Amino acid sequence: MLSLRVLPARVARFLWAAHRHARREGDRFSLVSPVRPAELAELLALARGRTMVVELGTGTAWSAVALALDDRARRVISCDPCVRHEREAYLDLGGPAARRRIELRHEPDSAGSRQGDHPVELLFIDSSHEREPTVMAFRAWRAALAPGALVVFHDHGNPHYPGVCEAVADLELPGRESGGLFVWQAP
Ligand SMILES: C[S@@+](CC[C@H](N)C(=O)[O-])C[C@H]1O[C@@H](n2cnc3c(N)ncnc32)[C@H](O)[C@@H]1O
Repeated sequence: MLSLRVLPARVARFLWAAHRHARREGDRFSLVSPVRPAELAELLALARGRTMVVELGTGTAWSAVALALDDRARRVISCDPCVRHEREAYLDLGGPAARRRIELRHEPDSAGSRQGDHPVELLFIDSSHEREPTVMAFRAWRAALAPGALVVFHDHGNPHYPGVCEAVADLELPGRESGGLFVWQAP
């Protein structure tokens, strides 16, 4: 819980409640899969001032809720073909105002944007963690990025997910690594 100190207060309060709920319900997936607090703090810092965010890989929506809570003007689209029913409890914990700004899409990362979507200012890739699908996901969303948008890959350099590093290498993205995240900025 001490690790939550690196986060903005609203987000830390949500994560504290989410952890408590997950432990009580024995929701092991949510205790192990979400972005860790230090990485989340980095992600939120990168997202500052960016109101249109797309996340690939909803999981149980902890990171989607955190992104929505951190900026009251932000809209978050989050895509995952696997709908985990546990996520509803965490979306409720985030409160109705954040929930209204989160759009959950039951589709894979490779689906790309829809007609009418606003240009994406930050794309957070936390989905399959596999080489080819990650390359395909990036390519599917590339055209939807606003000028200067950031693309953030989670688990870059994590030995359990070599596919993320391999995808970044295949894409030849000249970005930088920061605490488990790889960040590339669109021109
Ligand atoms: C590590 S979890 C996401 C955690 C979440 N971002 C968070 O921090 O709370 C990875 C998620 O990616 C999803 N996933 C796997 N393959 C995917 C794909 N091709 N497209 C979108 N999501 C995918 C899985 O169903 C899983 O829910």
